Amino acid sequence: MKILGIETSCDETAAAVVEDGAKILSNQIASQVEIHARHGGIVPEVASRQHTLAIIPIIEQAMAEAKATWGDLGGIAVTIGPGLAGSLLVGVNVAKAIALAQGLPITGVNHLEGHLYANWLANNTIDFPVICLIVSGGHSDLVLMRGHGDYVLLGRTRDDAAGEAFDKAARILGLGYPGGPAIEQAARSGQASLQLPRAWLKGTSDFSFSGVKTALLRLVEGGRVSNKADAAASFQEAVIDVLVTKTVAATGEYRVKQILLAGGVASNELLRQSLVQSSPIPVLVPEPVLCTDNAAMIAACGYYRFRAGKVDGLDLDVIPSLRLA
Ligand code: KG4
Ligand code: ZN
Repeated sequence: MKILGIETSCDETAAAVVEDGAKILSNQIASQVEIHARHGGIVPEVASRQHTLAIIPIIEQAMAEAKATWGDLGGIAVTIGPGLAGSLLVGVNVAKAIALAQGLPITGVNHLEGHLYANWLANNTIDFPVICLIVSGGHSDLVLMRGHGDYVLLGRTRDDAAGEAFDKAARILGLGYPGGPAIEQAARSGQASLQLPRAWLKGTSDFSFSGVKTALLRLVEGGRVSNKADAAASFQEAVIDVLVTKTVAATGEYRVKQILLAGGVASNELLRQSLVQSSPIPVLVPEPVLCTDNAAMIAACGYYRFRAGKVDGLDLDVIPSLRLA
């Protein structure tokens, strides 16, 4: 079964065709990163206008790359939230228009659930139950996944999400936007020599990253950061230390067989390596291009939704604050 996936929740306009929830036939992404970089962050109104310009060409490219006709498709999967309302609306309305015109079933996908399903795109055998760490620009969720579509939220961020913390730290250090890749790049030539605090929030699986960000800001304001690379390396290590330690601790509490890593921050090499090294059980990590926003992961998730009979009507709407559990 071939599914067309459509993703417009933030600043990437993406379309992909995926077969049987695993085989990527095409994966097209139009990034707006250069446009938003001028403002140092995403401007929602600009994002939705760019989606409107890019969505039809990107879908046409995805269909052409996959050599697929509408008749080859088994359905359309589209992100309905969480995300920016004006951005989500573009993808959802185009998906509904195609579904209506071509007589195809449609299913609305939770963007965070989509991130998890990037792990199904590498021909992995996933053995439930698993612990999932979803780290993106808006979320740091630790989730117990007991089966397809069956989630228990174990912990979440109480303030800044991991990706948001990377973005803010990069701004503090004047390293540019988006912050995650900028911090990772700068950290390559630095030493984690600065003492930065870790919020362990003992007894919970919750995270907090605003303290480490404020500590970095105070050091910069106090003129105590002479080497940006060292500061970036110290910040990266502090955030990853907490993410890895708390994820591994959760695997001890629940009898899980694997850890799934997902979300934009999962493209960070130190996080990937540290988690693999620290975990007593296998860790699955999608390749970096499938960690950041894309539509192949939405199509993969859509496949499992269709298989479970989760078909939506044409009254499908966006839910900007949608949660996983
Ligand atoms: O999942 P994603 O592409 O979009 C959202 O759903 O938010 O995640 C974007 C976030 C941004 O905050 C970005 O700075 C962060 O992921 N990110 C990284 C890296 N690449 C992207 N953070 C750390 N290291 C990276 N290499
Ligand atoms: Zn995302």
